[in-house]
Amino acid sequence: MYSQKIQNLSESATIAIATLATELKAQGRDVLSFSAGEPDFDTPQVIKDEAIRALNSGYTKYTPVAGIPELLETIAGKLERENGLVYSPKEILVSNGAKQSLFNAFQALIEQGDEVIIPSPYWVTYPELVVYSGGKPVFIPTNENTDFKITPKQLKEAITPKTKMLVLTTPSNPTGMVYSKDELTQIAEILKGSSIWVLSDEMYEKLIYDTQFTSCASISEDMMARTITVNGLSKSVAMTGWRMGYLATKDLKLLKLMNNLQSQCTSNINSITQRASIVALNGEADRDIEMMREAFQKRRDLACELIENINGLSVLKPQGAFYLFINMQDVPGYNGDSMRFCQRLLEVEGVALVPGKAFGMDGYVRFSFACSNEQIIEGCNRISRFIVSNII
Ligand SMILES: Cc1ncc(COP(=O)(O)O)c(C=O)c1O
Repeated sequence: MYSQKIQNLSESATIAIATLATELKAQGRDVLSFSAGEPDFDTPQVIKDEAIRALNSGYTKYTPVAGIPELLETIAGKLERENGLVYSPKEILVSNGAKQSLFNAFQALIEQGDEVIIPSPYWVTYPELVVYSGGKPVFIPTNENTDFKITPKQLKEAITPKTKMLVLTTPSNPTGMVYSKDELTQIAEILKGSSIWVLSDEMYEKLIYDTQFTSCASISEDMMARTITVNGLSKSVAMTGWRMGYLATKDLKLLKLMNNLQSQCTSNINSITQRASIVALNGEADRDIEMMREAFQKRRDLACELIENINGLSVLKPQGAFYLFINMQDVPGYNGDSMRFCQRLLEVEGVALVPGKAFGMDGYVRFSFACSNEQIIEGCNRISRFIVSNII
């Protein structure tokens, strides 16, 4: 009765925890959630002001599917200025969040049986979208020895004649690791001469600490040609609810095909968001963006220090994004099941974390530090109490 394709889509592994958290809250329990994938900051006022102006001036109609020309030009300017990527406005497609950009790219490129290489741990959405488009996710497991990054050798070994694409997320959700220019250059060397696409998810690009961010496509002409650069405003500008993401590719035929797909399902994104996004990207909001980045960096330092002091927990200090991917394998009494750990922690202490299992790696939990210092301190106190009480 229902399509096989839709039935193959899994329910998110994080839903069980989220449902339990909601139930406990409804019962009046004091629940502290560190599962959020969004900044706790409000959208900067200059951006909101532009949205209000757009609304009041009647900017409420359909726009071109890919986005209004001023926005496409602003994105092209940003990519050149900040990322060293020269794209023309017609090589850019604006979508309802980076999620739709990713959906468009997978649908337009992946055929039945195509293999898509995904470094693990991974952001939960990639394998689902790959399977939905008929492809086969091929995971490359990483570990702390390589800072959760794939090695050139691993990549070489994972490539088969069926490999269609490599997905790279830098900075990474859930580990916060960032690929250096050197590491990207080594990856580029391996891909040279192949017809493998790179889908470079750069959503957390602005949330970067003690390191330099490098866009995949900036490595070489060859990488520029094979890379689809995906970015958006949700994380770096605190605009999750506005739904603005975009992708850029040098392949105009591909862009046209994705544009066709989008034209048949959602058309343009919200017209008001488009006008506000120009202000988010043209430099006017840069001070606010930097203020948020600095706050995240301080919270990262605080959260890392507190977690490292808890018996059995350790964490690689993230260089980007707003997550700690915490190793809990040395926790006394731990039985190897991150889902169970998170369920019990929530029941006993009212603290919500996301099990590493959801990102393809058990033995870890993801802790989002997109919240106040007070919440981080109280949350870590509770986690410590839970572990010391040995009631997992
Ligand atoms: C790595 C990564 N890419 C893309 C997205 C999607 O962001 P949005 O659809 O809000 O633009 C997220 C959101 O969690 C993410 O973590």
